[in-house]
Parts: sequence; C-alpha cells; structure tokens
Amino acid sequence: MSLYPKVRVDRLLANLGYGSRREAQDFIAAGWVVLDGVALSDAGQRLAITPDLTTRMRVQGAPLDPPAPLTLILHKPVGLVCSHREAGRSLYELLPSRWRRRVPALSSVGRLDVDTSGLLLLTDDGGLLHKIISPRNHVAKRYLATLQQPLRGHEAAVFAGGALILEGDTSPLAPATLETLSSTTAHLTITEGRYHQVRRMFVAVGNLVIALHRDRIGELDLPADLAAGSYRRLSPAEESAVFANR
Ligand code: URA
Repeated sequence: MSLYPKVRVDRLLANLGYGSRREAQDFIAAGWVVLDGVALSDAGQRLAITPDLTTRMRVQGAPLDPPAPLTLILHKPVGLVCSHREAGRSLYELLPSRWRRRVPALSSVGRLDVDTSGLLLLTDDGGLLHKIISPRNHVAKRYLATLQQPLRGHEAAVFAGGALILEGDTSPLAPATLETLSSTTAHLTITEGRYHQVRRMFVAVGNLVIALHRDRIGELDLPADLAAGSYRRLSPAEESAVFANR
C-alpha cells in the first residue's frame, strides 16, 4: 500500500487553484495535463501525492505546483498586511494568484504589522501553524527594533521580569530578552504574539519604535539572500531550526 495519499487528478488540480473541477476536467480532455511524459485522459484517475509529483507532472507545459503540505519562508516588506481581511495591499500579492485559491489555504504563521518587515512563514499545515504560534511551545521570535529615544538602561530588567502588564491587557507578559546593539537599536526576543506586542512594550518603558524587523524565529534566521518581497519553500532543516533549543 502506498504511504502517500491518493487523490483524483481533477480534485488535485482544483485544490491547487488551477480552476474548478469542471475546468480541470477540460484541461485534462485538452491534453494539457501530462504525467511522466504521457497526457492524462481520465480526470477520475487517482494519483499518489508523492514528493516527486511536481517534477513528474506538468500542466500546460509547466511543473505542477507543490501539493499540500506546503510551507513557505517569506521576507515581508513594509507596506503589506498579512491577512486578506485587513484593509490594504496584502502579502498574498507576492504569490502566484493561483495560490490564493488553494485548498487547504495558505495562511501566515502569526502576523507582522503593516509597518514591520522580516521573516514570515506561510503554511497550509494547521498542525505546524499551531505548534509554532502556541505560547505553550515557547518558540522565540526575535525583532530588531529601532527606537526614537536612546535606551535608558532599565528596559532589559523590566522586560525580563515577567511582571509587565501592557495597557489594555489583564495578564503579565512572559519574560522577554533585550540585547542592546546601540543607544537606539536593540534585539528583543519574545515567546508570545500579542497584538503589536513589541511596539507596546517599548511604549510601556517610555519609548517609541520607529522601525521593526523580525530576523529570527526559533533558531531560524531570515536568510541573507532572501530579498524583501521574495519567498521560497521552507526546507526540512529550516523547519527543524524553528523548534531547536526550546
Ligand atoms: N510586535 C509588533 O509590535 N509588531 C509586529 O509586527 C510584531 C510584533
């Protein structure tokens, strides 16, 4: 028995956003869907979703999009929002339009504000998403914050203390680590993901964040060769790095 799930080819194409199942059936009838060099003729044929399917199967001459589960590493530029539901241009504009119709959908693993740049993961794997964002798993997120005012020296102790309650919150923040880089820049590492958390933490110590960039999740660094606005598949080694050292 195959270890890999099997799915009808018309459903596979529909789930990857190529069109409706009806349209997928038309693609197949037109000879546009080719497996191992042979045009498929039966839309009901069940295919094992093997990792090599993207190289074995072509749709209109192009390699098949990666089937689920798919996880991407993306360098979010400032100016894009993380959700379809928020007003403004969304980071989904960076992806092929077909990918916005995938089932299961790709969603961002947590959010970065419109004015925050940096490392963002997108996945259609609900279990992985939950594992990364659940505060119980203590996956650290590191931010490079540029501040309006010089640091005063008390901030690291306040953030590490585990007693800071942000305005509007009812429970204290988990301890966070501040590493000063210059008088107005610092790395702040947090394990939660509360609304505008980093900006609000600096407000709580009398300062203002003027630029914010996430450069690490767990032990996974934003790759230096991943320019703002670009993305690629997350490798298994990179996925393990997210959970290293917890
Ligand atoms: N904290 C913030 O204030 N903004 C982000 O985008 C992420 C963490």
